[in-house]
Amino acid sequence: MAMRTRVTDMFGIELPIFAFSHCRDVVAAVSRAGGMGVLGALYFTPEELEMELKWIDDHVDGKPYGVDVVMPASYEGADFAPEELVSRLQGMIPEGHRQFVEDLLAGHGVPPLSEDADPGKVLLGWTDATARPQVEVALRHPIALLANALGPPPADVVELAHAKGVKVAALASTPRHAVKQVEVGVDVVVAQGTEAGGHTGEISTMVLIPQVVDAVDVPVLAAGGIGGGRQMAAGMALGAEGVWTGSIWLTVEEADTPELAKSRILAATSRDTVRSRSWTGKPARLLRNEWTDAWEAANSPGTLPMPLQFMLVSDALRRIGRSDAAELATFPAGQIIGTMNQVKSARDVVFEMVEEYIEAVGRLGGITES
Ligand SMILES: Cc1cc2nc3c(=O)[nH]c(=O)nc-3n(C[C@H](O)[C@H](O)[C@H](O)COP(=O)(O)O)c2cc1C
Repeated sequence: MAMRTRVTDMFGIELPIFAFSHCRDVVAAVSRAGGMGVLGALYFTPEELEMELKWIDDHVDGKPYGVDVVMPASYEGADFAPEELVSRLQGMIPEGHRQFVEDLLAGHGVPPLSEDADPGKVLLGWTDATARPQVEVALRHPIALLANALGPPPADVVELAHAKGVKVAALASTPRHAVKQVEVGVDVVVAQGTEAGGHTGEISTMVLIPQVVDAVDVPVLAAGGIGGGRQMAAGMALGAEGVWTGSIWLTVEEADTPELAKSRILAATSRDTVRSRSWTGKPARLLRNEWTDAWEAANSPGTLPMPLQFMLVSDALRRIGRSDAAELATFPAGQIIGTMNQVKSARDVVFEMVEEYIEAVGRLGGITES
């Protein structure tokens, strides 16, 4: 069964189902199933990204796939020279914040990292300086789509992509963002409602999609809270020409999600997430737990702006991940996790979504009397 919208035509795909994942196996599996996998580049160095994309090229059977980078429209240190970026940013983290994190970990018995632990990554791809090399790597591969989170991508990056025949998408959480993105040349807008996992705005998917569809003339993908065919049908009814999903891939067989997060997500209800700045400094929907609560408590020093907050907490999160303090282990996840109770293959998730979509649309068709 194939579906046809401007988006399926644009990418030559059978199903307008986009799967955002940091896991290459998920990306390749969804593209092979007829949708389009999009690899989140954020956690990878340029060298690592090169290896991931080479692997995808070898496992995607020639089907189209995409890469997602995070080039925020605003962040601290945007005007610092790349070679002094990390040290100058480190110097901007107040001692009181470092002490708060140490006290929180000590209170939960979280040990320090072992001496031989790898140094970890403090900045990741979420600055212009760290995301550009990722874009360069991505554009050397046969990608069909370059997506950007947290604002319109820089105009020159859009041009670079277009010069290679690569379409550009960007995530928007308000109609105003969507218009700005189209102004810089974005080909597809991902309208993402507040239900979504990861960085997210305040407007719900149900309210946001029609506003974005009315504000722009490029195709819109519905995102935030889409886990099955009924939600897909709803998104399409609201005017979207496809769906963009993230959370549902966290618990598929292929996913490399940390075991602790996977088991918590499988057991969680839709009330177990919270929009919190405690991970990166910008509001992101995370599994709610003692970590997110601590940053809201009366003794919290408050969070720091991006990218300082992640620099402050990245080692702490690694220490928590290696300890028994499961109550502190947080992870980005959306409200749809309340319906994710079973591990399935990525292919089954795609096909079940399509089956349920057909059933939902058929039922709606039966409601109207001529
Ligand atoms: C674990 C996780 C990490 C995410 N990281 C990114 C990211 O790096 N870049 C991005 O554009 N979107 C990111 N997102 C958002 C997704 O692209 C997508 O818009 C969102 O998951 C859709 O809502 P859903 O989670 O309800 O499916 C992330 C989502 C999750 C769940």
